Amino acid sequence: MSEKIRINSPNVQYTEKFIESRYSYQTTSVTQDGDKYTVTPHNTEFTFRTERHVPKLGVMLVGWGGNNGSTVTAAVLANKLGLTWKTKTGVKSANYYGSLLESSTVSLGSGPKGEIFVPFRELLPMVHPNDIIFDGWDISSMDLGCAMERAQVLDWSLQEMLRPHMSQLKPRPSIYIPDFIAANQEHRADNVLTGTKAEQMEQIRRDIRDFKEKSSVDKVIVLWTANTERFSDVVTGVNDTAQNLLATIQNGGEVSPSTLFAVASILEGCAYINGSPQNTFVPGVVEMAVQQGVFIGGDDFKSGQTKLKSVLVDFLVSAGIKPTSIVSYNHLGNNDGMNLSAPQQFRSKEISKSNVVDDMVESNPVLYKPGEKPDHCVWSLSTFPMWETANEQWMSTRPRS
Ligand SMILES: NC(=O)c1ccc[n+]([C@@H]2O[C@H](COP(=O)([O-])OP(=O)(O)OC[C@H]3O[C@@H](n4cnc5c(N)ncnc54)[C@H](O)[C@@H]3O)[C@@H](O)[C@H]2O)c1
Repeated sequence: MSEKIRINSPNVQYTEKFIESRYSYQTTSVTQDGDKYTVTPHNTEFTFRTERHVPKLGVMLVGWGGNNGSTVTAAVLANKLGLTWKTKTGVKSANYYGSLLESSTVSLGSGPKGEIFVPFRELLPMVHPNDIIFDGWDISSMDLGCAMERAQVLDWSLQEMLRPHMSQLKPRPSIYIPDFIAANQEHRADNVLTGTKAEQMEQIRRDIRDFKEKSSVDKVIVLWTANTERFSDVVTGVNDTAQNLLATIQNGGEVSPSTLFAVASILEGCAYINGSPQNTFVPGVVEMAVQQGVFIGGDDFKSGQTKLKSVLVDFLVSAGIKPTSIVSYNHLGNNDGMNLSAPQQFRSKEISKSNVVDDMVESNPVLYKPGEKPDHCVWSLSTFPMWETANEQWMSTRPRS
């Protein structure tokens, strides 16, 4: 095997197939009696087993033809092909700057000349992004070459190099329930499944199996990067348990497209990641994932404005400084921005963005009284009706399907 790092410890065993490590996890539990605290240390023994053989990985994107979906596919392809292209500021070449695994480092320990850092990706056997095979679904039938152009993210000369490859990639028809995304997305929906909710979910399961067979990948991960949906109503007897949720899918009750995708993935044994803020993971989904032993995770990508805000609030509160008002602005000037100009969809985003500072605030009872929160508001184009109109006018000048 080709691992660059080898651990010299009786707690780590290398077999032909696995790396097995015993790890003592030390925590404390605390009880409180008035202003007195009793702290009890605990030690939990874990054994972690990592396969040394890196599987061939397939990633299926829901919303493949969107800005995120087309850009990530193009970026991986540009790296795989080792592309370089000219821009007005010089020659650029594909790289993975901005990738946590590929471009950040971890301190391994002290060497003879000081601390030694290694790229995160070298800690354990991991899939290299260049080896990922992509597939996916979109309610818009545009091939990925045209979708990349519609997204207006990449330099034109790079798009020209990628187009012959990208144009061969076509999203599979998807589940479209108009009630869950904004009405202004309707014009895109020319690639949709028909039939009952149960039949459409079965088709998604067949798509996963078809992709697995045709691409001969060992594992599939399904990632939601489609538009933000409105919140689903969480109702006892409807989606509160795995059994009730499966019954609701059969009888066509309240269930969102993203929840149907999550259930299809879990039933196919595929990990499911949610990149949008809606409550896909109603209690019935969580119970089903636990029952089937499948990983689910994610609550909005939180990669830009939200991330910065979390870091800043953490920095201020940890320094003993009390933010009393947090007002952040998200330009959201793309197609998902247009989707988020509808109040129900924006509400999902607003809730997920506001929640991110709660932990930091609750961590400091010296600054904040119990229940006290900073005045926290998330602004977007949709908060300003005049700007929203301007945004819609601007969007109307862009390619539509
Ligand atoms: N770009 C970011 O930095 C970022 C950060 C955090 C969260 N997000 C979230 O990621 C998601 C995607 O963002 P984007 O900028 O790529 O948006 P986008 O509008 O460009 O792409 C979304 C795609 O999803 C498709 N779609 C909608 N409903 C679908 C369904 N039911 N099945 C399949 N496809 C469907 C649309 O046709 C579109 O192509 C959004 O929910 C956004 O809020 C993005």
